[in-house]
Amino acid sequence: MPRPDLHALIQAAARARQHAVAPYSHFRVGAALRTRHGEIITGANVESASYGLTCCAERVALFKALSEGRHDLTALAVVARTAGGAMPCGACRQLLAEYAPRARVYVADSNHLDRVRTFRVADLLPAAFKPAALG
Ligand code: THU
Repeated sequence: MPRPDLHALIQAAARARQHAVAPYSHFRVGAALRTRHGEIITGANVESASYGLTCCAERVALFKALSEGRHDLTALAVVARTAGGAMPCGACRQLLAEYAPRARVYVADSNHLDRVRTFRVADLLPAAFKPAALG
């Protein structure tokens, strides 16, 4: 992805992080998905008093995108305040493998938005479970 587009995506994730609802962990995460057409859909983690119901920023963004008809997802940025940035958890990797298998994943520490690590979804979850019908 061209640098200005990557910068915009990282910035969008950083802005989305401000809307995280994380009263239990206090670990705020922002995510931003990009479609093939350059649209950006963001999400932030939302926690529950019943902790297991918490939803990661990546899945919030993914469900927003898919439920608005955006299926052609090419990139995901994740921003959190931790050294090197936060990697998507296993549950999010499964959903990314299903719905954004060719996407690049960019992670950054909110204190160092210029230091971006890049991954491919296929590398984050090799041999993912995927029913044939999903392609
Ligand atoms: N979290 C995310 O939103 N994305 C990640 O990649 C890792 C973890 C959230 C879930 C929970 O609200 C908090 O971070 C602490 O685990």
